[in-house]
Amino acid sequence: MKNQQPIGFIDSGVGGLTVVKEVMKQLPNENIIYLGDTARCPYGPRSTEEVITFTWQMVDFLLKKDIKMLVIACNTATAAALESIKEKLLIPVVGVILPGTRAAVKATKNGRIGVIGTKGTVASGSYKRAIQEKVPEIKVISLACPKFVSIVESNQYHTSVAKKIVSESLFSLRRQHLDTLILGCTHYPLLRPIIQNVMGETVTLIDSGAETIGEVSMLLDYFSIANKKNPQARRAFYTTGSTLLFNEIANDWLAPENVDSKQVILGGEK
Ligand code: DGL
Repeated sequence: MKNQQPIGFIDSGVGGLTVVKEVMKQLPNENIIYLGDTARCPYGPRSTEEVITFTWQMVDFLLKKDIKMLVIACNTATAAALESIKEKLLIPVVGVILPGTRAAVKATKNGRIGVIGTKGTVASGSYKRAIQEKVPEIKVISLACPKFVSIVESNQYHTSVAKKIVSESLFSLRRQHLDTLILGCTHYPLLRPIIQNVMGETVTLIDSGAETIGEVSMLLDYFSIANKKNPQARRAFYTTGSTLLFNEIANDWLAPENVDSKQVILGGEK
C-alpha cells in the first residue's frame, strides 16, 4: 500500500517544479502531490520564523493527503525548517541543500565554489557550512539574487529583461575564478541557459533540486517504498495563488504533462 502513496513536494511557488521535472524523468512510476505557496511567494526576504510557520502549513496540508515521503523542494524552507520537520515526521523528509553540496564538492577542481540563492538561504550560511564541513579548504563565495524569483514567478524567464537582470546580478561573481556554481534556489534552473551564458561555459552549474532526486530514489529503495509498476502515475498540483499563471508556467516547464492545478488556502494570507 505504502508504495502507491504519493511523494509530497513543497515550495514557495513554481520553483519546486524543477525538482518535479527530474522526478518525472528519473522516477516516472511515482505518484506525486505538489504544493506551491504562490500567494505568499517569495519566502526569501521573510524572517526565519515566518518561513517556518508557512512551511509547516504546507506540510500539514500534504500530510492529510497521506504522503509516503516529503521533499522540501525549496532551499529557503530547507534552510529554515528541515531539521524541525525531520524530527517530528514519521516519514522520510528530504531537503535540497545537502545533495547540491555533495555534487559541487565532487565537481570542483580548483576548490572555488559559488552559491546563488535567496536572501534567507544565503544568510543562513547553510551551503557554506555544509561544504566546509566536508572539505574545509574549499572557498565558498555566496551571493543573494533577490530579483530572480519574481522573474520566474511572473513568467518572464525567457525575456530580455531576464537576461539583463541576470547579467547585472552575477557581475561580481564573474571575477571570482569559480569553476562550480550551485543554483541554490529551485526557481533558478528556469534561468539556467541565461546563467550559463553569463558565467561562461567553463563554470559547471549544479542544480540542487535535480541532485536531490538521487537521494529520493535511494531512500525509496532503502525503505522498500518505491512504486515499481505504475505507468499511469497520478500527479496533482496545488497552488495558493492564481491557477492560471501556475498552469502556464507548469505546462511550459513540464511539457507534455497537462497540469491543471487546484487552488487551496493555507492559514490566512499575508
Ligand atoms: N524556490 C525557493 C528556494 O529554493 C524560494 C524562492 C522564494 O520564495 O524566495 O529557495
